[in-house]
Amino acid sequence: MGVHTCPHCCFLGKAKVQGAARFGPVWSASFGKVRTVYVAAPALIEQLLRQEGPLPERCSFSSWAEHRRCHQRACGLLTAEGEEWQRLRSRLAPLLLRPQAAADYAEPLDNVVCDLVRRLRRQRGRGAGPPALVQDVAGEFYKFGLEGIAAVLLGSRLGCLEAQVPPDTETFIRAVGSVFVSTLLTMAMPSWLHRFVPGPWNRLCRDWDQMFAFAQQHVERGEAEIARRNQGKPEEFMPPQSGAHLTYFLFREKWPVQSILGNVTELLLAGVDTVSNTLSWALYELSRHPEVQMALHSEISATLGPGSCVHSQVSALAQLPLLKAVVKEVLRLYPVVPGNSRVPDKDIHMDEYIIPKNTLVTLCHYATSRDPAQFPEPNSFRPARWLGHSPAPHPFASLPFGFGKRSCIGRRLAELELQMALAQILTHFEVLPEPGAPPVRPMTRTVLVPERSINLQFVDR
Ligand code: HEM
Repeated sequence: MGVHTCPHCCFLGKAKVQGAARFGPVWSASFGKVRTVYVAAPALIEQLLRQEGPLPERCSFSSWAEHRRCHQRACGLLTAEGEEWQRLRSRLAPLLLRPQAAADYAEPLDNVVCDLVRRLRRQRGRGAGPPALVQDVAGEFYKFGLEGIAAVLLGSRLGCLEAQVPPDTETFIRAVGSVFVSTLLTMAMPSWLHRFVPGPWNRLCRDWDQMFAFAQQHVERGEAEIARRNQGKPEEFMPPQSGAHLTYFLFREKWPVQSILGNVTELLLAGVDTVSNTLSWALYELSRHPEVQMALHSEISATLGPGSCVHSQVSALAQLPLLKAVVKEVLRLYPVVPGNSRVPDKDIHMDEYIIPKNTLVTLCHYATSRDPAQFPEPNSFRPARWLGHSPAPHPFASLPFGFGKRSCIGRRLAELELQMALAQILTHFEVLPEPGAPPVRPMTRTVLVPERSINLQFVDR
């Protein structure tokens, strides 16, 4: 059977929900030069992903790969394809994805989470509204996300949670925000058009160059510290004083500096918006569901006990059923990556559909995770649906971290950061909505973000 053709581009999550309602589970559309087949049914998504070969191709960021080619930069895991990707993935996975490996990053993260709590206290009452109100929590959690991932990847503290954010960090933050906008524009243009309409491509290159420069400065600093610590005893390869971090492990394994840089830069980008937006949505929903927040607070305080430090309790935190359910439910309602993609290297058979090889296929995760056939009252925040009382949804209906060989390599780290941050925030504060504030809806900026500022009250417990 052929696929339906939608004449309008529809990259927005909401548009994909509408697309699925109008055309059924499979349709095709164009966005500028990009033609794609959309798949919006869990069973079909499962069939497609289970037929994946050994080197799955995502191809969502071809302009990023083009930047690496034109500017002689090494690709990281996000942009690498084929055997190069496989080589990087097999070497990075043990350092990031094994549960124990991620748990080892809990100590540096603990300090960052404590600083976040202090910063939230300081940020209260800075604008109009009640004294405990913090304006634009997404901005605050963004700084937390960057500080956290930098601690894990670089062993550096960037000062994002201090009163004055250092200028180079501000530049990095601006570049991350801007690169997603220029990405959408460059994706819609064939590369020969860059010469005639150079704006978006030049902006994309400027943003990536600034991110690379930022990472380079920190990687070089780390390299110098490691060299200092190991002077005269290279066989020991002592970790830096600040503790072990990913860059240290990569130097220990003798990775080429260019490849360390490509990977660290891409991991920094991948680790910031994802964790920070999820944390914003989690607290937004918890503030609007006080009964869930109260139950979660009880679960956390029964495990942590007063004054205990979180990093020594991470394995206990990871087992808390309601905490896990809250994170799953937040990612169901607000999947940071609302539509993932694949370019199959062979023809794919899905029920009565055949997708020819080399077709760009968009997997509409936002649409499937709000499908009422899978999730009764799909737009309501109900973490209890994950606690085993109601019929289980299709396992591919909510797939926030993707699936298979190319799934999110930062998943364990992201879950750890979210669990630690939620545990500390709820231990210190009761989180309330801004009085009279209307609901905030999600929108797509390549990743899913709140359409406007979320302001919340953090009242001392
Ligand atoms: C809530 C947090 C996060 C979510 C929802 C998320 C989601 C995703 C998704 C959907 C993919 C595509 C998977 C696929 O194609 O099957 C992905 C890939 C990836 N993520 Fe995450 N992510 C999160 C956090 C992180 C963090 C903290 C890092 C960095 C440490 C990270 C690094 C990456 C990388 C490098 C890839 C590409 C993997 C590859 O191509 O082999 N992510 N992520």
